Amino acid sequence: MDRVEKATLVLFGGTGDLAARKLIPALFSLWKHRQIVDCLIVAVGRRVESTEQFREMLTQRVSVAKKDLPTWNEFARCIEFHRGDIQTRADFESLRDHLNEMENARQLPGHRLFYYAVTPSLFGPITQQLSEVGLLRRGLEPAQPWQRIIVEKPFGHDAESAATLDESLHVYASERQIYRIDHYLGKETVQNLLAFRFANGLFEPLWNNNYIEHVQISVAEAVGVEGRAEYYEKAGALRDMMQNHMMQLLAVTAMEPPIGLDADAIRDEKVKILRSIRLPANPAEVDILTVRGQYGPGEVDGQGVIGYRDEPDVAAESTTPTYVAARLFLDTWRWAGVPFLMRHGKRLAKRGTEVAIKFRTPALALFRGTQVFGNCTNLLVIRIQPNEGISLHFGAKRPGAGMRISTVQMDFEYQKSFDKEIPEAYERLLLDALLGDPTLFTRSDEVAATWRWADVVIDAWNVLPPPTFPNYSAGSWGPSAAEALFPAGDQVSAGSCPLGWRRW
Ligand code: BG6
Repeated sequence: MDRVEKATLVLFGGTGDLAARKLIPALFSLWKHRQIVDCLIVAVGRRVESTEQFREMLTQRVSVAKKDLPTWNEFARCIEFHRGDIQTRADFESLRDHLNEMENARQLPGHRLFYYAVTPSLFGPITQQLSEVGLLRRGLEPAQPWQRIIVEKPFGHDAESAATLDESLHVYASERQIYRIDHYLGKETVQNLLAFRFANGLFEPLWNNNYIEHVQISVAEAVGVEGRAEYYEKAGALRDMMQNHMMQLLAVTAMEPPIGLDADAIRDEKVKILRSIRLPANPAEVDILTVRGQYGPGEVDGQGVIGYRDEPDVAAESTTPTYVAARLFLDTWRWAGVPFLMRHGKRLAKRGTEVAIKFRTPALALFRGTQVFGNCTNLLVIRIQPNEGISLHFGAKRPGAGMRISTVQMDFEYQKSFDKEIPEAYERLLLDALLGDPTLFTRSDEVAATWRWADVVIDAWNVLPPPTFPNYSAGSWGPSAAEALFPAGDQVSAGSCPLGWRRW
């Protein structure tokens, strides 16, 4: 079992939402499973006064704490609080002294992971301060305690700002010390895409344009902006989900087999696929290949919900998209001509993330003109969440006279196959960063590659006439215009069965 011993995690933004919702619960779980031992967690913030107060605040806010209070209280002894302002030099100096004291008291060697759960404009300044007060050395020397940093998303708001941010980090830390989080890579089901493709001899031979008609990648959310409108108004659906999480899903689905399982071998292949995304030639093409949407009022799960423009902190005339769909092509030998249909939206009918591979129909439409035709969808659905699992849809003869075929399903469900809870993405990512394995973190060139397509689309949207928003009701499956992203040939080509966007 991979286990981290004697390390310190310093959490900037320790009193924030991410810490209470994801990071501390993930650390608690790792500690409970003895995957981290003798560790120190130091939260840095301004909202509380003391360690006691901070632990008390976490006990109230962290939902898992109350379920097992004695164990939680024991774990809470690993947590300390350092009151400090991220913008003040003196506070970094006192953080350094405080860290040294705490580590000495606990006999920790000073291996440190700095987690930036703060607004991106602070990533550069924190790194500079850490370096200047001697908490961060550039480069890794084997005999010395290590220092690493984890950077939360968003990493820049376009290619240029991402490059500037990179430059500012690289002054003080080498690429091997920087762990850029994309929490989708920490999801078991996303990692399983690699296992599914490359640990089996069955599917990979079919994984190309000879056999695959199109690929749908969907991330549907039933939630709205959840009180994050200040950030979301500037980001929108494309920057919030498509440029990062969905690009990672695309990369893992479409990449070539890596030459090994080490971090760079895998990331090299992901970068290649991301660079192969064909860039639309002009705004008119972007208009054909993408659809933007914004939700109006509606009903989700039987509950009336307000439209995006009525959410707190959203401009009355906001043109921020809460939905984006696109048809992409990868200019590689394997994928030439195969559309990748990507969609993401907030306040859709149901939550669900999946990669659906639609296979071509048989070369000869033998059953054309019978009841069989139209019932022949070969579809592989990889459910990232919820109901994690994989289903294969194929045609089977219905028992009885004649030849009537129905689509049936073969299912793999995590819950049934493994007697184990699926760990939260952040557990795996925090563990890997503490262990020094960057495989599931995005490399600098990978981030740059994901912005290429996003930048072209956003620039085009800025010059195209503004869309008429809202254009879908909360609780629906998004704007109807998105159906047009399926190329006509894809729906009616010889023997093909129309599929359209999947619903569940
Ligand atoms: C975040 C986005 O990165 O991912 C959110 O900023 C989104 O808007 C969230 O809701 C979705 O994550 P998950 O793991 O719930 O699919």
